[in-house]
Amino acid sequence: MREQLIIGNWKMNGSGAANAERVQGLIAETAHISGTAIGICPPFPYLAQVRGLLAGTAIRLGAQNLSDRTEGAYTGEVSGAMLHDLGCRYVLVGHSERRSLYGESDAVVADKFAAALGAGLTPVLCVGETGEERQEGITHAVISRQLQAVIDKVGIARIAKGVIAYEPVWAIGTGETASPEQAQEVHQALRLLLATQDRSVADSVQLLYGGSVRADNAAVLFAQPDIDGGLIGGASLNAATFASICRSA
Ligand code: 13P
Repeated sequence: MREQLIIGNWKMNGSGAANAERVQGLIAETAHISGTAIGICPPFPYLAQVRGLLAGTAIRLGAQNLSDRTEGAYTGEVSGAMLHDLGCRYVLVGHSERRSLYGESDAVVADKFAAALGAGLTPVLCVGETGEERQEGITHAVISRQLQAVIDKVGIARIAKGVIAYEPVWAIGTGETASPEQAQEVHQALRLLLATQDRSVADSVQLLYGGSVRADNAAVLFAQPDIDGGLIGGASLNAATFASICRSA
């Protein structure tokens, strides 16, 4: 049985005061949830603050990005070791906003996945097609290329040490969600791709869905056999809404 996992990606949102209110609300609202793991990924400057707020709770901490390098003269970069030091368990790798806005290639994403593993973090590898790619009928080719680049870098066995999130780019922040059937179909394809290389990895790795998940559509998405939870953007900024999504898993 794969554990259900819900991760909130705050993106570039928050302030000291807003974070405190949000995290305290989330702790109160999720106190009675069992059987579902919950994580939140605040912006870098607030990781220490949120770590303190989460102390003694089961809610896990994650970061949104990391450097592909380990240490040295890389101005503005943050290493996996630093994130581990700050109490992070997860780190997002290859989010579509990183790929499209900051030019992260499949090769860089694979290097970051390896760097996260090297630092003892659980990388959450994001894959997904654009709307144009879906219309062209190349969704499977795109997600397979994105995933295979990481497999080629770290080896199939080490994929099991990460989490994979399918986030169709056309569904991120648009209010347009993949239907449960569309999402399940891609999750199944990801699992099949893994299974051709290692069945036990395919069976054990958690596959999350992300893209306009809300309180009113979460349950039906999470009920799909190959969907093991969600990566939540906008709806994770409201404690009550995010807790409601967590209860749906
Ligand atoms: P939204 O939930 O705001 O669509 O964002 C999804 C996402 O990008 C999570 O990483």
